[in-house]
Amino acid sequence: MKQYKIAVAGTGYVGLVAGVCFAERGHQVICVDVDENKVQKMKDGICPIYEEGLQELMQKNYKAGRIDYTTDYQSAYKDADAIFIGVGTPEQPDGSANLSYVATVSRQIAESIEKDCLVVVKSTVPIGTNDKVEQFIKDSLVHDVKVEVASNPEFLSQGRAVKDTLEAKRIIIGTESKEAEKKLMEIYEPFNLPIVSVSRRSAEMIKYASNDFLALKISYMNDIANLCELVGANIEDVAKGMSYDPRIGEKFLNAGIGYGGSCFPKDTKALKYLAKQYGYKLRTVEAAVDVNAEQKTKLYKKACDRLITFNGLKVAVLGLAFKPGTDDLREAPSIDNIELLLKQGAKIYAYDPVAAENFEKRYRRTNSLCKNT
Ligand SMILES: NC(=O)c1ccc[n+]([C@@H]2O[C@H](COP(=O)([O-])OP(=O)(O)OC[C@H]3O[C@@H](n4cnc5c(N)ncnc54)[C@H](O)[C@@H]3O)[C@@H](O)[C@H]2O)c1
Repeated sequence: MKQYKIAVAGTGYVGLVAGVCFAERGHQVICVDVDENKVQKMKDGICPIYEEGLQELMQKNYKAGRIDYTTDYQSAYKDADAIFIGVGTPEQPDGSANLSYVATVSRQIAESIEKDCLVVVKSTVPIGTNDKVEQFIKDSLVHDVKVEVASNPEFLSQGRAVKDTLEAKRIIIGTESKEAEKKLMEIYEPFNLPIVSVSRRSAEMIKYASNDFLALKISYMNDIANLCELVGANIEDVAKGMSYDPRIGEKFLNAGIGYGGSCFPKDTKALKYLAKQYGYKLRTVEAAVDVNAEQKTKLYKKACDRLITFNGLKVAVLGLAFKPGTDDLREAPSIDNIELLLKQGAKIYAYDPVAAENFEKRYRRTNSLCKNT
């Protein structure tokens, strides 16, 4: 196996897990973040996010000298063989993806690299972004080096990120040259996983198409659940009956309070926005977004039908993160409901086994109480 010197920009769910897993598979890794507290924590062996098994792997690879953490991007990028970009691409008010973090990292890379380098975009970015990142870096290079950009979208699921990375069902690589393809293949060789090699734009699209398909599946089941209620069928039995069909599959058939998290909401809206830019109406994805928007507060509305007022009532909220096994509250449907309840004067008693700490930070100034036991 060829050991590569890899730098990772951003130590969130994607960047940190990728960095740790590259180290675990034998590469030399340096993780960069702008957040000094986070970097210090990681240097102290503390994982800044909740992900099963991550802290142990961080400590093991740090001790082995295969991974380190820094805010000094210049020294991290200057002699890296490959730089993976894993910074956030959050939603903007118009639904498009905010690419400012990717742009900042691209500028920092252009300023810093002193040897030929492959820049790999792991962040979820609209189709065509990799082309722009490559052009931007080439135009802004300070040193006379060769740089290429490749797409390598991430498919991990929060709550099982380490397992999903080390045992990924597939690695998607999007490149525009044999050289870039070869380098990425070599980086992933020690993972011994299926690799699908496509063009950069196809790789970018595979990520959105996959996430939006899953969001669509959730909204479809919620739509069917709402109809089940009206016609007297049981959605859980319906889902069970459907799950035996291998053409449908058993995953993502649970009806509930709608999807949330840092990916599905923004990735559905970003693709819808992108399609519109091209004069195309992505009707299926638009329907998934609409169904989800209504579904999130359906429970609250049902409660309103039964109560005169929430004012002064103690309301228990069980489950805060957008799904089990994570401490991430981003776009969690619980938040939409809690906001409505607080506005009505309710007192919130919230429970979550792992997201309680993040919840308390967010609602410190309100009359809400949170427990994790
Ligand atoms: N979270 C997931 O489950 C998941 C899964 C697949 C893909 N993605 C995609 O991966 C990307 C990252 O998502 P995330 O959830 O890991 O984000 P995150 O918000 O958890 O982490 C981003 C990190 O980048 C850091 N950062 C910002 N600017 C920086 C800079 N200039 N240099 C270095 N670090 C910088 C931030 O401080 C933060 O720690 C997004 O595009 C997301 O859509 C996320």
